[in-house]
Amino acid sequence: MKKAVVIGATSGMGRELAKILAKNNYIVGLAGRRANLLSELQNEIPTETHAKRIDVSKTKEAMALLNELIKEMDGMDLIVINSAVSYQNPELEWDNENETINVNIRGFAAMANVAVKYFSKKGYGHIVGISSIAALRHSCRSTAYGASKAFVSHYMRGLRQKLVNKKLKIYITEIVPGLVDTPMIKNRKGLFWVASAKKAAGQIFEAIKKKKKKVYITKRWTLIALLLKMMPEFVKRML
Ligand SMILES: NC(=O)c1ccc[n+]([C@@H]2O[C@H](COP(=O)([O-])OP(=O)(O)OC[C@H]3O[C@@H](n4cnc5c(N)ncnc54)[C@H](OP(=O)(O)O)[C@@H]3O)[C@@H](O)[C@H]2O)c1
Repeated sequence: MKKAVVIGATSGMGRELAKILAKNNYIVGLAGRRANLLSELQNEIPTETHAKRIDVSKTKEAMALLNELIKEMDGMDLIVINSAVSYQNPELEWDNENETINVNIRGFAAMANVAVKYFSKKGYGHIVGISSIAALRHSCRSTAYGASKAFVSHYMRGLRQKLVNKKLKIYITEIVPGLVDTPMIKNRKGLFWVASAKKAAGQIFEAIKKKKKKVYITKRWTLIALLLKMMPEFVKRML
């Protein structure tokens, strides 16, 4: 059986993806901060799972705990780095900016670092990172979030280049969701093309199976990405 770790499995897309992976014969390692939600999910999944309470913002500790989880699972073939926070923070409250940077950037890089080193030793593996359409916008309301997702996208492309140069069989998949109905966007107004977490997770799983380099979730967000890429800066500022 293949083994997958989902970082940020307690809610939203990560939770749905963990269930899909389990249904598709993966032994799943579940990670996140909320221990009660981890055990709840373990009870819901009838097949073999392993859970580890990990706070990715405490990078050194989180890296050690991920290595521990991999050992407990007796290996890992796939990791999905899905954990993130997002705040509407127009006043740039520092606690929110700081947490976003710590979780979405430092936490992401720390988890990717463990995965690259583990897969490099093993000779193969698959790293999936969840970015966002927000990486293409410079939002004045969630400045740190958009910037953190631009980091995620660029970091993954850099890793892919590095691994290709080393001729290692380690796949990198960049997932770019548009809007997905999860606790992350609850209470936000004026949203459109919002997909269910289940549908989004299903499309992420398809991308994993096909070892895609990059996918927009859902697919129609490819169009928005194209428009954002072509849009002059002054038009973006009006959004
Ligand atoms: N929903 C959207 O519209 C949307 C759009 C574009 C991109 N995304 C991206 O999709 C991914 C999944 O988000 P979601 O929408 O499913 O949101 P969500 O339901 O809020 O899930 C976020 C997950 O991240 C985990 N997490 C947060 N801080 C953490 C920390 N310090 N250490 C470890 N885990 C942590 C949470 O677990 P704990 O709280 O238990 O730690 C939770 O499992 C994120 O990367 C998000 O940026 C979402």
